[in-house]
Amino acid sequence: METQVAEIAPNIYRLSTYNTDANFMFNQFLVVDEEPLLFQTGLRSLFPLVSDAVGRVIPVAQLRWITFGHVEADECGSMNQWLAAAPNAQVAHGAVGCMVSVNDLADRPPRPLQDGEVMELGDKRMRRVETPHVPHGWDAGLFYEETTSTLLCGDLFYAIGNSPALTEQEITGPALAAEDVFRATCLTPSTGPTIRSLADLQPQTLGLMHGPAYAGNCAQALKDLASAYDARLAAEGARIHGPVSPID
Ligand SMILES: [Fe+2]
Ligand SMILES: [Fe+2]
Repeated sequence: METQVAEIAPNIYRLSTYNTDANFMFNQFLVVDEEPLLFQTGLRSLFPLVSDAVGRVIPVAQLRWITFGHVEADECGSMNQWLAAAPNAQVAHGAVGCMVSVNDLADRPPRPLQDGEVMELGDKRMRRVETPHVPHGWDAGLFYEETTSTLLCGDLFYAIGNSPALTEQEITGPALAAEDVFRATCLTPSTGPTIRSLADLQPQTLGLMHGPAYAGNCAQALKDLASAYDARLAAEGARIHGPVSPID
């Protein structure tokens, strides 16, 4: 395995490792600025590969912020390895996630972020958007880089297989095909509306954790994904409860 590096928006680098055995890719994003930020750390076992990839862009020791969407091995498994490699780095995560997990998991105290809080990295502005239980995890959230309109959307649109660094080919179909296999998404009444609200940001690029970065009509893709999950929630409700409302 090797980790590919590609710039998907100005000074936003996608680090991508394709695992052939799993037929699945694991991506991280490096935002280069006065205070460089890593979004998603990768698995502990991938740290040698991913840290080497970061080192091709900036010295690893310069990293200032270690961030991720939610607590899970591929999101934050290597956070303490990053903290050890970058003495000035600090984990920044949603306040709920810090309280529930990261205060305990991280080797140095994390910075808790409120919903909508902006981290100013220099020129770049990273806005934390809390998305509880979307696609999964109480502490789930995403980052929106405002100056490039880049939504680092984590597990949303996760897909099976390898993919190019950046595409305009539609990503909703592959995401639903992967969902048919893995069922990783928490289907609740708030799933569709939460994803639909991300479309209101009008992102120009989506950074997928497991898939390509997408530079097509991002708002429409988010709306399509939201509608597909709404339909799946309704179908699942009918399957479990029958045609009668569970409230009656
Ligand atoms: Fe996840
Ligand atoms: Fe993931």
